[in-house]
Amino acid sequence: EYALRNDKIMPKADITISLEDRGYQFGDGIYEVIRFYDGELFHLDAHLARLDISARQINLTLPLSMDALARRLKELTALSKIGDGKIYLQITRGVSRRAHAFPEETEPLLTAYTEEVARPLSQLATGIGAITVQDNRWLRVDIKSLNLLPNVLAKQKAKEAGAVEAIFIRDGHVTEASASNVFGIRNGVIYTHPVSPFILNGITRQALKVLAEKVGIQWVDEAFTEQELMEMDEVIMTNTVLEVCPVISINGQPVGKGQPGQHTIRLQQAFAEEIA
Ligand code: PDD
Repeated sequence: EYALRNDKIMPKADITISLEDRGYQFGDGIYEVIRFYDGELFHLDAHLARLDISARQINLTLPLSMDALARRLKELTALSKIGDGKIYLQITRGVSRRAHAFPEETEPLLTAYTEEVARPLSQLATGIGAITVQDNRWLRVDIKSLNLLPNVLAKQKAKEAGAVEAIFIRDGHVTEASASNVFGIRNGVIYTHPVSPFILNGITRQALKVLAEKVGIQWVDEAFTEQELMEMDEVIMTNTVLEVCPVISINGQPVGKGQPGQHTIRLQQAFAEEIA
């Protein structure tokens, strides 16, 4: 098994992380989860563009160029010999004596490794359950930072309730979920929270927007309330691993007819064509 450390691919077991890594001590870093199907990285450029934005937002300089990084990630994927999987990549501000402010000289640490992940076919076919929770995260969740404690706690609460995801509510409106974006479909129109500091602009969200246009479903970037969420005909969640997943119950109440709806299925078909 191999992993990437800055610009070098090496055996995964040879990578050690310092006790004083700022990612470990402060969550001072950013990450990406990138899918590959049949050994082919999916929307790699979009993930790297978002990584670049996250890095700039926290004044982090990548230890290698984007072109070099793209090449290394392709090599790493090929070496893994995995068909369907994902890359987990993170960059921290590196190692220094523990002090909150940036160290004088920073040497960011980039690590990435692959993992086999099958498509979530049964969840895609039958749909998943969700709960709603208050969105108590900071106001810059557009940065894909390592600070995921509120997301972890929300996801755990969903799990304990027998659900898969937790939908965040901020000031009465749906923002996103603990690890995915959220969409409601009402009278054939798809609604979702606009791109803002209150959501992570998902790569799958961006892909879905293109697919909606392709299949002729009107798309409106507009936040909706928790009440409106409960009255949607169909609800969808997206992320890199979950793809385009139907939500069939929220807080124990059925969404629409309590099964994946026709627009959702059409979007799923369009998505499946894209990765085929
Ligand atoms: N999470 N919103 C949040 C809070 C997320 O953590 C994610 C992804 C998304 C969807 O982004 P994308 O479509 O680019 O995967 C939205 C990843 C999968 C994770 O943390 O594991």
